[in-house]
Formats: sequence, structure tokens, C-alpha cells
Amino acid sequence: MLEGRAARRTRTARPRSFLMCPPGHFDVTYSINPWMDPDRPTDGGRAVRQWDRLRNLYIGLGHTVEQIPAIPGLPDMVFAANGATVIDGQVLAARFRHAERAAEGPAYAGWLAERGYQVHQAQFVNEGEGDYLFTGRRILAGTGFRTDPRSHAEMQRVFSHPVVTLELVDPRYYHLDTALAVLDHDEIMYYPAAFSADSRALLSRLYPDAILAGDADAAAFGLNAVSDGRHVVLAEKATGLADQLCQHGFVPIGVDLSELMKSGGSAKCCTLELRAP
Ligand code: ARG
Repeated sequence: MLEGRAARRTRTARPRSFLMCPPGHFDVTYSINPWMDPDRPTDGGRAVRQWDRLRNLYIGLGHTVEQIPAIPGLPDMVFAANGATVIDGQVLAARFRHAERAAEGPAYAGWLAERGYQVHQAQFVNEGEGDYLFTGRRILAGTGFRTDPRSHAEMQRVFSHPVVTLELVDPRYYHLDTALAVLDHDEIMYYPAAFSADSRALLSRLYPDAILAGDADAAAFGLNAVSDGRHVVLAEKATGLADQLCQHGFVPIGVDLSELMKSGGSAKCCTLELRAP
């Protein structure tokens, strides 16, 4: 019998394959987003412990986690989501906006090429899954701070999935994956205030049933989440979002990634999904 608003759906998890980079050289030595303050000390040991827990959590949920070695001098390389976009075994290599991160693109592209992925070099700036989120039928594409809007057409050419351009307007939410997460096919959660009025209208038309995050959950990086269709791994401080996810039949799992937050990243930023053909 239905109680209250609606019966809770039972969700099914699908095992995923992830690429992660250990935070062996993590630090905040420059500032390219409003969260980064190089004068605020980081705790490298703590970053490693927090990251290890995230990795072990994925493995415990039945996912595969591969690792790319960290490179000295690339303190943001831990944010694997930015390293590339991988769909159907095809890769669009990342091309970073800032010189400080430029060498990460070839590092990730090389790792993927060595493992048999077909890598397409990018003509325009794009920061991988930071700004490209695949829903299963379309690619949601962020722009405004990092990824060049001209990259969106390039994306569509490489992957032959429709690309939907979304414009970010709040510098705290500089990558799409800080303001929006894909929960399951055609189900998303997002923070409306991070988007331009046109993009907000588009999102509410495409996803009328989306979960909407409030200011506090967004600022806790709750949208920087990784879903396997059932479990949603997100910042533990995003308790309002966790409640909403439960109401929709998902199983939220809170994680503490406070050290990585000092660089403006959380769970999703540390996680690149490898989608085989
Ligand atoms: N400090 C990094 C930067 O500003 C953080 C990247 C976070 N990654 C992400 N996928 N949002 O580029």
C-alpha cells in the first residue's frame, strides 16, 4: 500500500570501473578556484587516509578501482575526474585551462592509451568529467569557468551522444560536477543557483523530478557525488541531500574528504569512471 507521497523505489546498483590517483603529492600551492588558499596548511597524511577510505568504500561496494601513479609537482592530480572523459571505450583527452594542471592531461591520456582505450586529442580546453557528465543517453556539459563551449561540439563528434550545454555562473561551482550529479539513467540532483537562468530553465524541463540541493548541502560539496544507481557516495556534511536521497530510494553513504575540500574537490572529483565499449 502506498503511504505518504509515494512508494520508495528499490534501486539496483551496477558495478563500475573507476580510475583514481592517490594524493601522494597533494597540496594547495596555487589558487585557481575560490576554495583554494595556499596559506592554509594541508595535512598530507590525513588526505591519504581520507582518500584510502573512499577507495576501500568503492571496492567494498563491488566496484573495480584502478590507480594511476601520482606525479610530483602535480598537486591536483588526485582529482582524477578531470583527467579525461571515457565513454564506450573512447576517450576525449583533457586539456586544462590553467598551466599548473596542463601536464595532467597527457598523463591520463597516456595511461588510458596504454590500456587499449582509443584516445582522441582535444582541440579545445576541457576538464574531463569535471564538466562532462554522462547520463546514459546524453552528455551534460558544463561551461563558464573551465571547459571551452567549443569543446561541446567536439565532444558530440567523438562520442555521438547528444550534448547539452549548461552554463555555470557561481565561481564556487566552477566545474559541473560540483553543482550536479547523475544518480541513475535520467535522474539527477543539482544546485539551481549555480546555473544561468537559461540553463536552470533547461534543467527543469529535462529533469522535472530532479532532487534540488539547498545552499548548505551545495557548499558542503554534496553534489560532488558518485552514484552506482543505488549507493550515492557524498560528503558527510550534506545531510539534507542524504535525507532527500533516502526518500527517493537511494542509499547515501557519507564520506569525510575535508583535506581535499581545501582544493575545491570531494568524492566525484577523485573518481573517473572508465566506461568500456
Ligand atoms: N583544485 C582543483 C581545480 O581547481 C580541483 C578540481 C576538482 N575536480 C573536479 N572534478 N571538480 O582544478
